[in-house]
Amino acid sequence: MIPEHSKVEIAERLKHIKPSATLAINEKSKALQNKGKKIVRFGLGQSPFPVPAVVVQALKDNAHQKDYLNTKGLEPLRIAVADYHKRVNQLDYSSENIQIGPGSKELIYDILLALDATLLLASPSWVSYEPQGRLAGINFEWIPCSYEGQWKLTAEAFEQACKNNPGQKVSILNYPNNPTGQTYTKEELEALAGVARKYKVVIIADEIYGALSFDSHHSIAEYYPEGTIVTAGLSKWCGAGGWRLGTAAFPESLKEILNYMSIIASETYTSVSAPIQYAAITAFQKADELDLYLDKSNRILKIVSSYCQQNLSAAGLSIHPTMGGFYLFVSAEPKREMLERRGIKDSTTLAEIMLEEIGVAVLPGIDFGRPAEEFTFRLAFVDFDGEQALQLIDSQLEQEDFINRCCQDIKVGIEQLTNYFN
Ligand SMILES: Cc1ncc(COP(=O)(O)O)c(C=O)c1O
Repeated sequence: MIPEHSKVEIAERLKHIKPSATLAINEKSKALQNKGKKIVRFGLGQSPFPVPAVVVQALKDNAHQKDYLNTKGLEPLRIAVADYHKRVNQLDYSSENIQIGPGSKELIYDILLALDATLLLASPSWVSYEPQGRLAGINFEWIPCSYEGQWKLTAEAFEQACKNNPGQKVSILNYPNNPTGQTYTKEELEALAGVARKYKVVIIADEIYGALSFDSHHSIAEYYPEGTIVTAGLSKWCGAGGWRLGTAAFPESLKEILNYMSIIASETYTSVSAPIQYAAITAFQKADELDLYLDKSNRILKIVSSYCQQNLSAAGLSIHPTMGGFYLFVSAEPKREMLERRGIKDSTTLAEIMLEEIGVAVLPGIDFGRPAEEFTFRLAFVDFDGEQALQLIDSQLEQEDFINRCCQDIKVGIEQLTNYFN
Protein backbone atom coordinates (compact mmCIF):
# COMPACT_ATOMS: atom_id res chain seq x y z
CA MET A 1 0.00 0.00 0.00
CA ILE A 2 2.84 2.45 0.76
CA PRO A 3 4.06 4.06 -2.49
CA GLU A 4 7.78 3.61 -3.16
CA HIS A 5 9.83 6.68 -3.94
CA SER A 6 13.50 7.15 -4.51
CA LYS A 7 15.46 9.77 -2.56
CA VAL A 8 15.77 11.82 -5.76
CA GLU A 9 11.99 11.88 -6.15
CA ILE A 10 11.54 13.00 -2.56
CA ALA A 11 14.12 15.78 -2.94
CA GLU A 12 12.36 16.86 -6.15
CA ARG A 13 9.02 16.96 -4.35
CA LEU A 14 10.42 19.08 -1.55
CA LYS A 15 11.66 21.62 -4.10
CA HIS A 16 8.07 22.13 -5.26
CA ILE A 17 6.80 23.02 -1.81
CA LYS A 18 7.00 26.79 -1.66
CA PRO A 19 7.15 28.58 1.67
CA SER A 20 3.56 29.75 2.12
CA ALA A 21 2.42 33.36 1.96
CA THR A 22 1.62 32.86 5.66
CA LEU A 23 5.30 32.76 6.49
CA ALA A 24 5.99 35.79 4.34
CA ILE A 25 3.20 37.74 6.10
CA ASN A 26 4.50 36.66 9.52
CA GLU A 27 8.04 37.73 8.63
CA LYS A 28 6.81 41.06 7.36
CA SER A 29 4.63 41.58 10.46
CA LYS A 30 7.65 40.96 12.68
CA ALA A 31 9.84 43.33 10.69
CA LEU A 32 7.20 46.08 10.93
CA GLN A 33 6.70 45.44 14.67
CA ASN A 34 10.46 45.67 15.20
CA LYS A 35 10.33 49.08 13.56
CA GLY A 36 7.74 50.08 16.19
CA LYS A 37 4.63 49.79 14.02
CA LYS A 38 1.48 48.48 15.73
CA ILE A 39 0.17 45.38 13.95
CA VAL A 40 -3.21 43.77 14.62
CA ARG A 41 -2.64 40.04 14.23
CA PHE A 42 -5.57 38.51 12.39
CA GLY A 43 -3.19 36.01 10.82
CA LEU A 44 -2.42 33.39 13.44
CA GLY A 45 -5.04 30.74 14.22
CA GLN A 46 -4.16 30.06 17.84
CA SER A 47 -6.62 29.75 20.74
CA PRO A 48 -6.72 32.92 22.86
CA PHE A 49 -7.80 30.96 25.96
CA PRO A 50 -5.58 29.53 28.70
CA VAL A 51 -5.47 25.75 29.15
CA PRO A 52 -8.20 24.88 31.74
CA ALA A 53 -6.83 24.85 35.29
CA VAL A 54 -7.71 21.18 35.93
CA VAL A 55 -5.76 20.13 32.86
CA VAL A 56 -2.74 22.26 33.85
CA GLN A 57 -2.87 20.69 37.32
CA ALA A 58 -2.93 17.21 35.75
CA LEU A 59 0.21 18.11 33.81
CA LYS A 60 1.94 19.32 36.99
CA ASP A 61 0.93 16.11 38.76
CA ASN A 62 2.47 14.07 35.96
CA ALA A 63 5.72 15.94 35.41
CA HIS A 64 7.57 12.92 36.79
CA GLN A 65 6.32 10.55 34.06
CA LYS A 66 9.48 9.73 32.17
CA ASP A 67 9.07 6.50 30.26
CA TYR A 68 8.69 6.01 26.54
CA LEU A 69 5.07 5.13 25.87
CA ASN A 70 3.33 2.75 23.50
CA THR A 71 3.52 3.99 19.86
CA LYS A 72 -0.28 3.94 19.69
CA GLY A 73 -0.55 6.05 22.82
CA LEU A 74 -1.14 5.57 26.54
CA GLU A 75 -3.95 3.08 27.04
CA PRO A 76 -5.99 5.04 29.65
CA LEU A 77 -5.81 8.03 27.29
CA ARG A 78 -7.04 5.97 24.35
CA ILE A 79 -9.91 4.73 26.51
CA ALA A 80 -10.73 8.35 27.50
CA VAL A 81 -10.68 9.39 23.81
CA ALA A 82 -12.94 6.50 22.78
CA ASP A 83 -15.34 7.43 25.63
CA TYR A 84 -15.24 11.05 24.51
CA HIS A 85 -16.33 10.13 20.98
CA LYS A 86 -19.13 8.01 22.41
CA ARG A 87 -20.28 10.80 24.74
CA VAL A 88 -20.06 13.65 22.24
CA ASN A 89 -21.01 12.06 18.90
CA GLN A 90 -22.35 8.62 19.84
CA LEU A 91 -19.47 7.14 17.81
CA ASP A 92 -18.24 3.70 18.84
CA TYR A 93 -14.50 3.06 18.80
CA SER A 94 -12.42 0.44 20.48
CA SER A 95 -9.54 2.05 22.40
CA GLU A 96 -7.34 -0.23 20.25
CA ASN A 97 -8.42 1.82 17.22
CA ILE A 98 -7.32 5.19 18.61
CA GLN A 99 -3.92 6.59 17.62
CA ILE A 100 -2.34 9.36 19.68
CA GLY A 101 0.18 11.58 17.88
CA PRO A 102 2.13 14.82 18.21
CA GLY A 103 -0.74 16.95 16.90
CA SER A 104 -3.50 15.99 14.50
CA LYS A 105 -1.38 17.60 11.76
CA GLU A 106 1.19 14.81 12.02
CA LEU A 107 -1.57 12.19 12.16
CA ILE A 108 -3.21 13.52 8.99
CA TYR A 109 0.15 13.47 7.23
CA ASP A 110 0.85 9.92 8.40
CA ILE A 111 -2.53 8.77 7.05
CA LEU A 112 -1.71 10.35 3.67
CA LEU A 113 1.70 8.68 3.76
CA ALA A 114 0.09 5.30 4.36
CA LEU A 115 -2.27 5.65 1.38
CA ASP A 116 -1.64 5.27 -2.32
CA ALA A 117 -4.56 7.47 -3.29
CA THR A 118 -5.58 10.73 -4.97
CA LEU A 119 -6.35 13.51 -2.50
CA LEU A 120 -9.57 15.41 -3.23
CA LEU A 121 -9.60 18.79 -1.54
CA ALA A 122 -12.30 21.44 -1.27
CA SER A 123 -11.09 24.90 -2.23
CA PRO A 124 -10.70 26.69 0.17
CA SER A 125 -9.04 24.27 2.58
CA TRP A 126 -6.56 24.54 5.46
CA VAL A 127 -3.07 25.60 4.32
CA SER A 128 -1.24 22.38 5.20
CA TYR A 129 -3.27 19.73 3.38
CA GLU A 130 -1.90 20.41 -0.09
CA PRO A 131 1.79 20.53 0.95
CA GLN A 132 1.24 17.40 3.04
CA GLY A 133 -0.17 15.63 -0.03
CA ARG A 134 2.88 16.75 -2.01
CA LEU A 135 5.27 15.55 0.70
CA ALA A 136 3.47 12.23 0.84
CA GLY A 137 3.92 12.00 -2.94
CA ILE A 138 0.25 11.63 -3.79
CA ASN A 139 -1.76 13.32 -6.53
CA PHE A 140 -4.43 15.78 -5.62
CA GLU A 141 -7.30 17.68 -7.17
CA TRP A 142 -8.95 20.85 -5.94
CA ILE A 143 -12.75 20.88 -5.93
CA PRO A 144 -14.01 24.45 -6.33
CA CYS A 145 -16.47 25.81 -3.75
CA SER A 146 -18.18 29.20 -3.85
CA TYR A 147 -19.18 32.07 -1.64
CA GLU A 148 -22.81 31.43 -2.65
CA GLY A 149 -22.47 27.84 -1.45
CA GLN A 150 -20.99 29.03 1.89
CA TRP A 151 -17.62 27.72 0.66
CA LYS A 152 -18.83 24.17 1.37
CA LEU A 153 -18.15 21.05 -0.62
CA THR A 154 -21.36 19.93 -2.31
CA ALA A 155 -22.23 16.29 -2.91
CA GLU A 156 -22.52 17.05 -6.66
CA ALA A 157 -19.04 18.58 -6.95
CA PHE A 158 -17.62 15.78 -4.80
CA GLU A 159 -19.20 13.16 -7.04
CA GLN A 160 -17.82 14.85 -10.16
CA ALA A 161 -14.30 14.82 -8.69
CA CYS A 162 -14.72 11.14 -7.79
CA LYS A 163 -15.72 10.39 -11.39
CA ASN A 164 -12.69 12.32 -12.69
CA ASN A 165 -10.28 10.31 -10.58
CA PRO A 166 -10.40 6.55 -10.94
CA GLY A 167 -8.61 4.46 -8.32
CA GLN A 168 -8.33 4.90 -4.57
CA LYS A 169 -9.31 8.34 -3.29
CA VAL A 170 -8.97 10.16 0.03
CA SER A 171 -10.59 13.43 1.01
CA ILE A 172 -10.15 15.67 4.04
CA LEU A 173 -13.35 17.26 5.31
CA ASN A 174 -12.82 19.89 7.97
CA TYR A 175 -15.71 21.29 10.01
CA PRO A 176 -16.08 23.75 11.63
CA ASN A 177 -13.78 24.91 8.91
CA ASN A 178 -10.49 26.69 8.79
CA PRO A 179 -10.48 29.10 6.88
CA THR A 180 -14.22 29.60 6.34
CA GLY A 181 -15.77 29.21 9.81
CA GLN A 182 -18.57 27.19 8.20
CA THR A 183 -19.80 23.75 9.17
CA TYR A 184 -21.99 21.08 7.59
CA THR A 185 -25.59 20.25 8.47
CA LYS A 186 -26.59 16.64 9.15
CA GLU A 187 -28.23 16.51 5.71
CA GLU A 188 -25.11 17.80 3.96
CA LEU A 189 -22.93 15.26 5.79
CA GLU A 190 -25.33 12.50 4.88
CA ALA A 191 -25.22 13.46 1.19
CA LEU A 192 -21.40 13.61 1.18
CA ALA A 193 -21.31 10.27 2.99
CA GLY A 194 -23.48 8.76 0.24
CA VAL A 195 -20.96 9.81 -2.42
CA ALA A 196 -17.99 8.66 -0.34
CA ARG A 197 -19.59 5.24 0.13
CA LYS A 198 -20.42 4.92 -3.58
CA TYR A 199 -16.79 5.60 -4.61
CA LYS A 200 -15.16 4.01 -1.53
CA VAL A 201 -13.38 7.26 -0.64
CA VAL A 202 -11.40 7.28 2.61
CA ILE A 203 -12.59 10.34 4.51
CA ILE A 204 -10.36 12.09 7.01
CA ALA A 205 -12.83 14.07 9.14
CA ASP A 206 -10.68 16.84 10.59
CA GLU A 207 -12.76 17.78 13.62
CA ILE A 208 -10.08 19.71 15.48
CA TYR A 209 -12.64 22.56 15.89
CA GLY A 210 -15.57 20.20 16.63
CA ALA A 211 -15.94 21.20 20.28
CA LEU A 212 -15.95 24.86 19.21
CA SER A 213 -19.18 24.48 17.19
CA PHE A 214 -21.50 27.31 18.20
CA ASP A 215 -24.45 24.98 17.62
CA SER A 216 -24.51 21.17 17.75
CA HIS A 217 -21.68 19.27 16.10
CA HIS A 218 -22.18 16.22 13.92
CA SER A 219 -19.59 13.96 12.36
CA ILE A 220 -19.63 12.41 8.89
CA ALA A 221 -18.58 9.23 10.74
CA GLU A 222 -22.21 8.99 11.94
CA TYR A 223 -23.23 8.38 8.31
CA TYR A 224 -20.13 6.70 6.86
CA PRO A 225 -18.47 4.97 9.80
CA GLU A 226 -16.70 2.30 7.77
CA GLY A 227 -14.70 4.76 5.64
CA THR A 228 -14.08 7.68 8.02
CA ILE A 229 -11.10 8.45 10.25
CA VAL A 230 -11.89 11.23 12.75
CA THR A 231 -8.98 13.43 13.82
CA ALA A 232 -9.13 15.82 16.78
CA GLY A 233 -6.95 16.92 19.69
CA LEU A 234 -6.23 19.47 22.40
CA SER A 235 -4.93 22.32 20.28
CA LYS A 236 -8.05 24.35 19.68
CA TRP A 237 -10.84 23.79 22.23
CA CYS A 238 -8.37 23.24 25.09
CA GLY A 239 -6.02 26.09 24.13
CA ALA A 240 -3.05 23.70 24.11
CA GLY A 241 -1.59 23.91 20.58
CA GLY A 242 1.94 23.87 21.95
CA TRP A 243 1.34 20.69 23.92
CA ARG A 244 1.21 18.80 20.60
CA LEU A 245 -1.38 16.16 21.24
CA GLY A 246 -3.67 14.89 18.50
CA THR A 247 -5.98 11.91 18.17
CA ALA A 248 -7.18 9.79 15.27
CA ALA A 249 -10.10 7.35 15.60
CA PHE A 250 -10.24 4.48 13.10
CA PRO A 251 -13.04 2.11 12.21
CA GLU A 252 -12.20 -1.60 12.24
CA SER A 253 -12.44 -1.62 8.42
CA LEU A 254 -9.46 0.78 8.10
CA LYS A 255 -7.24 -1.07 10.53
CA GLU A 256 -4.62 -1.58 7.83
CA ILE A 257 -3.97 2.18 7.75
CA LEU A 258 -3.84 2.26 11.55
CA ASN A 259 -1.19 -0.46 11.51
CA TYR A 260 0.94 1.65 9.16
CA MET A 261 0.49 4.59 11.56
CA SER A 262 2.06 2.58 14.37
CA ILE A 263 5.00 1.69 12.14
CA ILE A 264 5.49 5.33 11.16
CA ALA A 265 5.28 6.35 14.84
CA SER A 266 7.74 3.69 15.94
CA GLU A 267 10.33 4.80 13.38
CA THR A 268 9.86 8.55 13.77
CA TYR A 269 8.35 10.31 16.82
CA THR A 270 7.94 7.13 18.96
CA SER A 271 5.22 8.60 21.17
CA VAL A 272 3.88 11.92 22.40
CA SER A 273 5.64 13.14 25.54
CA ALA A 274 4.51 11.12 28.58
CA PRO A 275 3.42 13.98 30.94
CA ILE A 276 1.27 15.45 28.15
CA GLN A 277 -0.46 12.12 27.51
CA TYR A 278 -1.20 11.61 31.22
CA ALA A 279 -2.56 15.17 31.50
CA ALA A 280 -4.69 14.72 28.37
CA ILE A 281 -6.68 11.98 30.11
CA THR A 282 -8.20 14.71 32.32
CA ALA A 283 -9.00 16.85 29.26
CA PHE A 284 -11.01 14.09 27.56
CA GLN A 285 -12.94 13.00 30.65
CA LYS A 286 -16.28 14.58 31.45
CA ALA A 287 -16.05 17.39 34.02
CA ASP A 288 -18.39 20.30 34.82
CA GLU A 289 -15.42 22.65 34.87
CA LEU A 290 -14.51 21.73 31.29
CA ASP A 291 -18.11 22.01 30.09
CA LEU A 292 -18.29 25.49 31.61
CA TYR A 293 -14.96 26.51 30.06
CA LEU A 294 -16.17 25.35 26.65
CA ASP A 295 -19.53 27.04 26.99
CA LYS A 296 -17.86 30.33 27.90
CA SER A 297 -15.24 30.01 25.15
CA ASN A 298 -17.92 29.47 22.53
CA ARG A 299 -20.04 32.38 23.74
CA ILE A 300 -17.00 34.67 23.61
CA LEU A 301 -15.97 33.51 20.14
CA LYS A 302 -19.51 34.05 18.90
CA ILE A 303 -19.61 37.64 20.23
CA VAL A 304 -16.21 38.53 18.76
CA SER A 305 -17.02 36.88 15.45
CA SER A 306 -20.38 38.67 15.16
CA TYR A 307 -18.75 42.00 15.96
CA CYS A 308 -16.14 41.53 13.20
CA GLN A 309 -18.60 40.12 10.68
CA GLN A 310 -21.28 42.76 11.22
CA ASN A 311 -18.86 45.66 10.86
CA LEU A 312 -17.10 44.25 7.81
CA SER A 313 -20.40 43.38 6.14
CA ALA A 314 -21.59 46.94 6.78
CA ALA A 315 -18.46 48.13 4.93
CA GLY A 316 -19.62 46.17 1.88
CA LEU A 317 -17.53 42.99 2.20
CA SER A 318 -19.09 39.54 1.71
CA ILE A 319 -18.80 37.23 4.72
CA HIS A 320 -20.77 34.33 6.15
CA PRO A 321 -21.13 34.39 9.94
CA THR A 322 -18.86 31.94 11.77
CA MET A 323 -20.56 28.70 12.84
CA GLY A 324 -17.64 27.49 14.94
CA GLY A 325 -13.92 28.06 15.53
CA PHE A 326 -12.01 31.31 15.16
CA TYR A 327 -12.25 32.29 11.53
CA LEU A 328 -14.05 34.48 9.02
CA PHE A 329 -13.36 34.10 5.30
CA VAL A 330 -13.82 37.51 3.75
CA SER A 331 -14.53 38.20 0.11
CA ALA A 332 -13.54 41.68 -1.02
CA GLU A 333 -14.87 40.93 -4.51
CA PRO A 334 -17.60 43.60 -4.11
CA LYS A 335 -14.68 46.09 -3.88
CA ARG A 336 -12.91 44.80 -7.00
CA GLU A 337 -13.17 48.05 -8.95
CA MET A 338 -11.77 50.11 -6.11
CA LEU A 339 -8.91 47.65 -5.48
CA GLU A 340 -7.99 47.46 -9.16
CA ARG A 341 -7.92 51.24 -9.30
CA ARG A 342 -5.36 51.07 -6.51
CA GLY A 343 -3.29 48.71 -8.65
CA ILE A 344 -4.07 45.60 -6.57
CA LYS A 345 -4.42 42.50 -8.72
CA ASP A 346 -4.37 39.50 -6.39
CA SER A 347 -5.00 38.33 -2.83
CA THR A 348 -1.30 38.23 -1.91
CA THR A 349 -0.80 41.89 -2.85
CA LEU A 350 -4.02 42.82 -1.05
CA ALA A 351 -2.78 41.15 2.17
CA GLU A 352 0.66 42.79 1.84
CA ILE A 353 -0.81 46.23 1.25
CA MET A 354 -3.23 45.92 4.18
CA LEU A 355 -0.30 45.01 6.39
CA GLU A 356 1.88 47.89 5.23
CA GLU A 357 -0.77 50.59 4.99
CA ILE A 358 -3.14 49.84 7.86
CA GLY A 359 -1.12 47.47 10.07
CA VAL A 360 -3.57 44.58 9.76
CA ALA A 361 -2.20 41.04 9.18
CA VAL A 362 -4.51 38.57 7.41
CA LEU A 363 -3.82 35.54 5.22
CA PRO A 364 -4.56 35.72 1.49
CA GLY A 365 -7.10 33.37 -0.12
CA ILE A 366 -4.42 31.88 -2.38
CA ASP A 367 -2.89 30.15 0.66
CA PHE A 368 -6.08 28.15 1.02
CA GLY A 369 -6.23 27.05 -2.61
CA ARG A 370 -8.32 29.93 -3.98
CA PRO A 371 -7.44 31.44 -7.39
CA ALA A 372 -4.61 34.00 -7.06
CA GLU A 373 -6.65 36.87 -8.52
CA GLU A 374 -9.69 36.37 -6.27
CA PHE A 375 -9.88 39.01 -3.53
CA THR A 376 -10.40 36.80 -0.49
CA PHE A 377 -8.64 36.61 2.85
CA ARG A 378 -8.90 34.78 6.15
CA LEU A 379 -9.33 36.68 9.36
CA ALA A 380 -8.60 34.88 12.67
CA PHE A 381 -10.29 36.88 15.43
CA VAL A 382 -8.10 35.71 18.33
CA ASP A 383 -5.93 38.75 19.09
CA PHE A 384 -7.44 39.30 22.55
CA ASP A 385 -6.82 38.31 26.18
CA GLY A 386 -8.76 35.06 26.53
CA GLU A 387 -8.29 34.89 30.30
CA GLN A 388 -9.84 38.30 30.82
CA ALA A 389 -12.66 37.45 28.40
CA LEU A 390 -13.47 34.26 30.35
CA GLN A 391 -13.74 36.34 33.52
CA LEU A 392 -16.02 38.95 31.95
CA ILE A 393 -18.34 36.84 29.82
CA ASP A 394 -20.90 36.33 32.59
CA SER A 395 -21.11 40.02 33.47
CA GLN A 396 -24.02 40.63 31.05
CA LEU A 397 -22.14 43.23 28.99
CA GLU A 398 -23.60 44.30 25.64
CA GLN A 399 -21.52 43.29 22.59
CA GLU A 400 -20.01 46.79 22.20
CA ASP A 401 -19.04 47.02 25.90
CA PHE A 402 -17.57 43.53 25.87
CA ILE A 403 -15.45 44.35 22.83
CA ASN A 404 -14.37 47.66 24.41
CA ARG A 405 -13.32 45.91 27.62
CA CYS A 406 -11.59 42.81 26.19
CA CYS A 407 -10.82 43.21 22.52
CA GLN A 408 -9.31 46.66 21.93
CA ASP A 409 -6.83 45.41 19.33
CA ILE A 410 -9.57 43.64 17.39
CA LYS A 411 -11.65 46.81 17.50
CA VAL A 412 -8.75 48.85 16.12
CA GLY A 413 -8.12 46.27 13.39
CA ILE A 414 -11.76 46.16 12.32
CA GLU A 415 -11.94 49.97 12.27
CA GLN A 416 -8.83 50.07 10.08
CA LEU A 417 -10.34 47.52 7.71
CA THR A 418 -13.71 49.23 7.47
CA ASN A 419 -12.05 52.61 6.82
CA TYR A 420 -9.83 51.04 4.17
CA PHE A 421 -12.70 49.41 2.30
CA ASN A 422 -15.07 52.35 2.69
C1 LIG B 1 -7.95 22.72 10.12
C2 LIG B 1 -6.82 22.32 10.99
N1 LIG B 1 -6.51 21.03 11.07
C3 LIG B 1 -5.47 20.61 11.83
C4 LIG B 1 -4.71 21.51 12.54
C5 LIG B 1 -3.53 20.98 13.32
O1 LIG B 1 -3.79 20.91 14.65
P1 LIG B 1 -2.79 20.18 15.66
O2 LIG B 1 -2.31 21.24 16.56
O3 LIG B 1 -3.63 19.12 16.32
O4 LIG B 1 -1.69 19.57 14.86
C6 LIG B 1 -5.01 22.87 12.49
C7 LIG B 1 -4.18 23.84 13.21
O5 LIG B 1 -4.10 25.00 12.92
C8 LIG B 1 -6.11 23.28 11.70
O6 LIG B 1 -6.44 24.57 11.62
